[in-house]
Amino acid sequence: MSFRVQPAPVARPNRCQLFGPGSRPAIFEKMASSAADVINLDLEDSVAPSDKDSARRNVIAAISDVDWGNKTLSVRINGLDSPYWYRDVVDLLEQAGPRLDLIMIPKVGCAADIYAVDALVSSVEAAVGREKPIGFEVIIESAAGISHVEEIAAASPRLQAMSLGAADFAASMGMQTTGIGGTQESYYMLHDGARHWSDPWHWAQAAIVAACRTHGVLPVDGPFGDFSDEEGFRAQARRSATLGMVGKWAIHPKQVALSNEVFTPSEAAVTEAREILAAMEEAKSKGEGATVYKGRLVDIASIKQAEVIVRQAEMIGAE
Ligand code: COA
Ligand code: MG
Repeated sequence: MSFRVQPAPVARPNRCQLFGPGSRPAIFEKMASSAADVINLDLEDSVAPSDKDSARRNVIAAISDVDWGNKTLSVRINGLDSPYWYRDVVDLLEQAGPRLDLIMIPKVGCAADIYAVDALVSSVEAAVGREKPIGFEVIIESAAGISHVEEIAAASPRLQAMSLGAADFAASMGMQTTGIGGTQESYYMLHDGARHWSDPWHWAQAAIVAACRTHGVLPVDGPFGDFSDEEGFRAQARRSATLGMVGKWAIHPKQVALSNEVFTPSEAAVTEAREILAAMEEAKSKGEGATVYKGRLVDIASIKQAEVIVRQAEMIGAE
């Protein structure tokens, strides 16, 4: 173990982040009554350039007018390469009121991008006397973002979560696909003449999880574009959960229940985790560091694995 202890991420559920365009206020109430843990009102790519100002006004009004319950409320601002982002930050911080929890920064490429937003946010917060500091979440969706993922994860104490944005990531990397997440037709191995599909998003996800866990940030899987493919969504989400991600985006309300299902530890998994902890307690009382549970080895590392599942279940149950 390194001398430096791995920091814990913020303790709040983040199983599903439901997105909706800021230019479509008719769905805000529906978003608020959904079962998503996090709501992302979008000012970026789901809003046409001609609608940027009105979407910003809609979002600012809805932050205080809509009852968001105990959800984490986030607004995705425009990218730092656009003419809109400074106005997004200033107007949100000056006008939106205290209910806003997070700002999501898209297309981050390096730690300095976070620094720039942090400086602006800090200045407006001080000017308006905001009591609760705004948190950040970021999207890794470019070659630069994944190349600098670790410095980005370490860039600000405001940073709570980091998502993989598959579509922009694929475009930036020059990947030959228009799919948003999931299996890609041409990404296969041949074995004895049979095709075996592997996962082109795997390495980026693993890099994000490692950077996030190193710096106490929640790793999140981004969008799955084909919202009529429920099994495809489940398969993608299960792979992400297995790799250590805590949740996934929903770009259609249909996907919220699927995401909650995958990222809520099942009763069977929690029972097994508690049994492993009990078996290890018993082993410890006999002075042993390892024992057998259901015919397989469990040891001191198994305690930490089991605790991840139990902690997740307790946090979701406590909400
Ligand atoms: N959140 C909450 N409710 C939503 C919703 C959302 N994101 N998208 C649609 N709905 C509602 C609709 O209003 C409709 O409600 P109704 O039954 O009361 O009429 C119901 O869910 C079914 O909607 P449907 O007709 O299947 O979808 P649509 O054609 O209205 O919208 C999308 C489809 C994909 C355009 C829309 O879901 C959307 O804008 N998603 C988010 C896109 C986004 O934010 N992208 C940025 C991140 S990648
Ligand atoms: Mg994007």
